[in-house]
Amino acid sequence: MAVVYIENVGAHEGSEVTLRGWVYNKRSSGKLQFVLLRDGTGIIQCVAFKGNFTPEQFDALDKITQESSIEIRGKIRKDSRAPGGYELEIAGFQIFQVAQDYPITPKEHGTAFLMENRHLWLRSSRQHAIIKIRHEIIKAVRDYFDDQAFTLVDTPIFTPNACEGTTTLFETEYFGEKAYLTQSGQLYNEATAAAFAKVYCFGPTFRAEKSKTRRHLTEFWMVEPEVAWATLEDTMELAEGLICFIVERVISKRRAELEVLERDTSALEKISRPFPRISYDEAVTRLQAAGSEIKWGGDFGGGDETVLSEQFASPLMVHRYPSEVKAFYMQPDPEKPEVALCVDVLAPEGYGEIIGGGQRIHDYDLLVQRLRQHGLPLEPFQWYLDLRKFGTVPHSGFGMGIERVVTWICRLDHLRETIAFPRTLYRIYP
Ligand code: 4AD
Ligand code: MG
Repeated sequence: MAVVYIENVGAHEGSEVTLRGWVYNKRSSGKLQFVLLRDGTGIIQCVAFKGNFTPEQFDALDKITQESSIEIRGKIRKDSRAPGGYELEIAGFQIFQVAQDYPITPKEHGTAFLMENRHLWLRSSRQHAIIKIRHEIIKAVRDYFDDQAFTLVDTPIFTPNACEGTTTLFETEYFGEKAYLTQSGQLYNEATAAAFAKVYCFGPTFRAEKSKTRRHLTEFWMVEPEVAWATLEDTMELAEGLICFIVERVISKRRAELEVLERDTSALEKISRPFPRISYDEAVTRLQAAGSEIKWGGDFGGGDETVLSEQFASPLMVHRYPSEVKAFYMQPDPEKPEVALCVDVLAPEGYGEIIGGGQRIHDYDLLVQRLRQHGLPLEPFQWYLDLRKFGTVPHSGFGMGIERVVTWICRLDHLRETIAFPRTLYRIYP
């Protein structure tokens, strides 16, 4: 008899199959028992009629507990009232292990408790839906760049370089030398872009974020494209295209999961190109009009981003921030040298920054000057400076944090649910 996954039971309507999984929930009413079985691909209701079993068998099934592992055999039949549209009539079963006192019961639990039990919490339908959507987003990202003939070039996790400032570095000892966990693959992307023209990297990045916020993890996944000869304008278009591609993909392929999350998709459906583009100057004016204390030259806080992104239905592109508040590698605007040719993309519905990027300095002398101004040692950057000595060209790219995008698309309150095992200021367990 065929062993099948619940997601495929529709193809077996009317025939007997074997399912293997875990008991999600259970209820009985005298002569009938209902086992909600989940197998990782779906959930199905399985029904046992007392008359079909010996008293011992029926009793064993009655005693089965939440999250016990079990194999169930029986006929699949269509049932429009059932959650997945099908039901299984139990003909036989084999209990693999009876779970005792599973800590996460269908009642409400506090977040701290659930985070302590994250290894088990992942089995719940809400967490399952979020991780499925994350998977879809990552697949869409890969397809978007692959379809445009980008080459995926992985960048290292151990590095001697600080890319995004020295305050959030995780330092480690590397055989007697100092190394850091990477904050971004960008600097290496700049090298590979000169070798492959259009590249992207996708991997974990690390920042010792010492403040506790809803938007920061210490370990997060970032996709970073980099394109030789590209300008800031090109990069904004690439980013805009990526976001539209992701949103369309999730809406078309993950409706069921969005429903589990009770995500109202109308806000996602309203997103259209071109995205609004405003300069940092205009953003400051808008913030001041909304009552913010911000002055020209200051960086935006999470609250400022929320105010700005709530003003637009599509993601908002804020470009040309003061160089002072940005990283050392940003190309100055020739029209206004105190601002950088950079962009932040703020997700709507108040979610704030999901993408940061822009055009990089391609001039050797200017780059040396900026490294010095930022107090960075020149020695570990020799290879990076080489790129400005051997056929330097204008080039641009950006980084998009996967967890920020998942949080927005799923409309969650906090980044911690968007990755299987989140790492935050106070959490490294489990
Ligand atoms: O704006 P950031 O710092 O830019 C860079 O790292 C560039 N080197 C990227 C590039 O141009 N190749 O970070 C990029 C994105 C942010 O917009 C945000 O989505 C995410 O990375 N991010 C974080 N996500 C979760 N937790 C954190 N602590 C994050 N810090 C940044
Ligand atoms: Mg940023």
